[in-house]
Parts: sequence; structure tokens; C-alpha cells
Amino acid sequence: MADFTKLTDFTPKHQHRAYVNSAVRFHIPCTKEDRLAAAIKAGWNVFQFASKYTIGDFLSDSGTTTPTIEQLAASLLGDEAYGTNWGYEQLLEQFEKTFGITLLGDHAEWEIFLFHQCRAAEHALFTQIGRGKKGLVIPSNGHFDTTHANIEMNGIEALDIVTHLNDSDFRGNIHIPKLYRTLWSQNVPLVYCTITNNTMAGQPVSLENIDQISRGCKLYKKPFFLDACRFAENAWFIKEREHPEMTIPEIVHKIFSYCDGFTISLKKDGLANMGGALCVKKGTVLFDEYPDILDNLRDHQICTEAHPTYGGMSGRDIMVVVEGLKTVVTQQYLDSRILQVRAFGDYLDELGIPVVKPFGGHAVYVDVDKFFKGTTMKREDFGGIALSALLLLNGPRVCELGAFAFGTYDPKTGKETFPPFNYVRIAIPRNKYEIEDLFYAADCIKNLYDKRDELPRAVCVYGKEKTLRHFKARFELQERK
Ligand code: F0G
Repeated sequence: MADFTKLTDFTPKHQHRAYVNSAVRFHIPCTKEDRLAAAIKAGWNVFQFASKYTIGDFLSDSGTTTPTIEQLAASLLGDEAYGTNWGYEQLLEQFEKTFGITLLGDHAEWEIFLFHQCRAAEHALFTQIGRGKKGLVIPSNGHFDTTHANIEMNGIEALDIVTHLNDSDFRGNIHIPKLYRTLWSQNVPLVYCTITNNTMAGQPVSLENIDQISRGCKLYKKPFFLDACRFAENAWFIKEREHPEMTIPEIVHKIFSYCDGFTISLKKDGLANMGGALCVKKGTVLFDEYPDILDNLRDHQICTEAHPTYGGMSGRDIMVVVEGLKTVVTQQYLDSRILQVRAFGDYLDELGIPVVKPFGGHAVYVDVDKFFKGTTMKREDFGGIALSALLLLNGPRVCELGAFAFGTYDPKTGKETFPPFNYVRIAIPRNKYEIEDLFYAADCIKNLYDKRDELPRAVCVYGKEKTLRHFKARFELQERK
């Protein structure tokens, strides 16, 4: 008999999604005038713009995940007990499975501290690390802004040691020779590595680089911590570009076998809307310098968040994370996630918009300097702010992470200092948008790209001298001279 199944062999032009919709939310009908009024009210600050007016909210991939039906069902089983709720044990079991660490039983090698989100965990950690000490430096491949702020608020220098931007597969890597020099010459309480490297355009870090950091730390007897917010996305890139023979769970276990501790925002690769944790391995070199750190962290957690068995998380949040940590390490989920980001980036690229390549896992970054190349827009005109401000009028909300967000203003000299990069980030929430939504956003960006000569400058009328100024500032859009 003829084998008719062969007739169905072909390579489709389009890829189907990894899931179907179980619930949808329609946009609230609104006009451009509504959006203009909202944008002016917000001082053209995207963070203060009402989300109900957005069509495509790409401000952040953090806490913006659409839950799976399994997560929603699990949340109903959340146990809101004050101590040792039912989900807590499940959470510890799931952490063990996902990260390959031991938290349960008499021989548990690790300790976990739950927080409502990652910055609270960072605050707890760096308060302990900085207490009573001077002249400390924490090197990283790229501290996220809240991590940077939490470190510096505790009197510690947050040092970014990035590799030079090039076409490497792992542009999130730390610069190893510079790291070793820092370990040799500075007073380093721990080394931090962010996977994926959000500040560096969401680029991944290779397993080889993680191995080399760990070797350096062993050599100089320093603890090695990960900022593991997007650990699963990072593992996907390691599989694609470095270790195709390994499964995602194997890669994840390998990554975490190198570190002495990690902080994680469960709002990213926990696939949850809230949650964070700090995990510390017991008996490492960290305890040489900080023998009481576990007790002190516990006190900090109890005083600022809650009882150790729920930290800042509700029983429902905990159940959502348990499910999220199962899904996030599946090849099916990660393919759908990262290939969607890539399809969006490719389309922007086809439209001629200067984007940072290769694309990272959670966002596409527009290179603002290249966007305005050949126009009169200067860095101090904050073209990235103007671009994100005007985009609001068509619906998409994106975020400037460049000259303004990471720049500083010195009121004494009246001068701005700029970071080495100047990006606008289009962060893609997980499981939320279909590719058409992303293509629409790209078309809106293309429209403004075609009119880049006419785009206004953004003048900061409030907050330019403030810390974390991108969250607080207000702007006016003015014609360029
Ligand atoms: N570390 C990294 C690498 C992050 O990207 C974030 C948050 C944090 C730490 C802090 O986590 O929000 O749970 O306190 N990033 C979000 C973003 C806010 O939009 O990139 P959190």
C-alpha cells in the first residue's frame, strides 16, 4: 500500500505557537487624543503612562507573563497559612529539581530565602556583605540597575567588566583577564554574573565563561554568585551555540553546580507575576568572611518580608512558581519564547531599523545612536526618550535604557555623563503576545525611523540630577535646533 503519510512531509513557512489561548483580554477602545493626554499627564515618562492605553506593552518582561492554565489551577490550591504552608515544601522540591541543588533533608547543602521580588533579595544580601566593611568591589558582567543601586547604597563599588561588543555568540560574557586582575588587586567579597546579561542587551553567557569565573573565584578564594533571573533562556542559548548534545535541564544543573549562591527574580524565568529568592550554598568560602550570614539574612528576611517559609510571597504565588519552574525548562516553551523574540528582531532588521544582533532571549534592543546617525540628534537630546515617548501615541510602550537611564547629570558642572551604550529596549512578556502584535510595534517604529530627521529632542524638566532618574523624570518634547 502507498505510504500517504509521506505527502505530509514539508517545511512550513510559518511556525505554530507552542500553546493555544485559554483566556483573552480585549484592548480598551481609545483614541490618539486619549493617549496624548495620558502621555502629557505622565510627563512623557513611559513608566507613568497608563497601561490601559497601550497596544503592546513592552516596558518589561518582568512579572508580565501570562500564566498557563496549570499555573492558574495551582494558584487555587495556594495555602495561605502563616508558617510552613503546603506549597512551601513543593517549592523546595521544585527548586531542587530545576536547579539541581539540595534544600530538603538533613544533608541539604543549600539554604533558601524567599522575597517578594529579586531586589529585596539583593537588598538583604548586600546589606550583609557591606556591613562594617570599606573599600569593597563587586565585579560582574553587568549589574542590573537595581542590583547596582543596592550594592552602591551599601557603600560597595559595583564594577561592570564587559566583553567588547562584537559578533561573538556570547556577548554577555565577563571579560576574564580583567576579572582575574580585579580579583588579584581589589577587595572583592564576591563575584556576580548575570544570566542572561540584561544590561548588555539581554545577551547570553557561555558555560565556558561561567566555568572560568568559577575557576578564578576558586583560585582567589572568593564566592561566586549568579543573578539567575533568566537562567532558562541562557541555558537555551548554551544548547544552541555551545552544547547541543545536552538537554536544557542538564545545562541548568551544570550552571548551578558552579556557583556558591544566587539571587533570582521569579517574575522572569519563574514565569510568575511576583516572587524572588536568594539561595546560598552552605560551607563555602563566603563563610570565612561572613560566618553568621545565614542567621543575619534570616533576621533581615523576617524583619522586612515575613516568616522564612513564605518570605514576601503569598501561598498562591508560591504555587504559581512551582508550576512555572516546571514549564520554563522545557524545550517546547523555550523554543516558542526565544524564536518569537528572534522573528520580531528579524522583522525589525528587515525594515532597516538598527537593532543589536544577535538577539538576546527576552528583548530586542534598538541602537539609538545608529537610529539617529546622520541627523542632528545628539546624545544629550535623548533621542531614545523621544522615540519611546512618541511611540506611546500609536500604542506600543518600550523603554529607554541608555543615555538617560544609565547617564548621570552633575549639577555642579552642568554636564551629562553617558554610558558606553545607548539603547531602547523592547522587552517581550512571556506567553502574552502573538507575532502580529510584535509586527505592529515594529511597523510603528519603522514609521518614526522614516521620520527620524523630524523627531523632537526630549528635554528633562524634572529629576535629571536624581538617582534612578528614569523612573522619576518628566520631559518636554521640543523641536531640534
Ligand atoms: N536582575 C536582573 C538581571 C533583572 O533584570 C531584574 C529586573 C532584577 C535583577 C530585579 O528583579 O524586578 O524581581 O526585583 N528586571 C526587570 C526588567 C525589572 O524590566 O528588566 P525584580
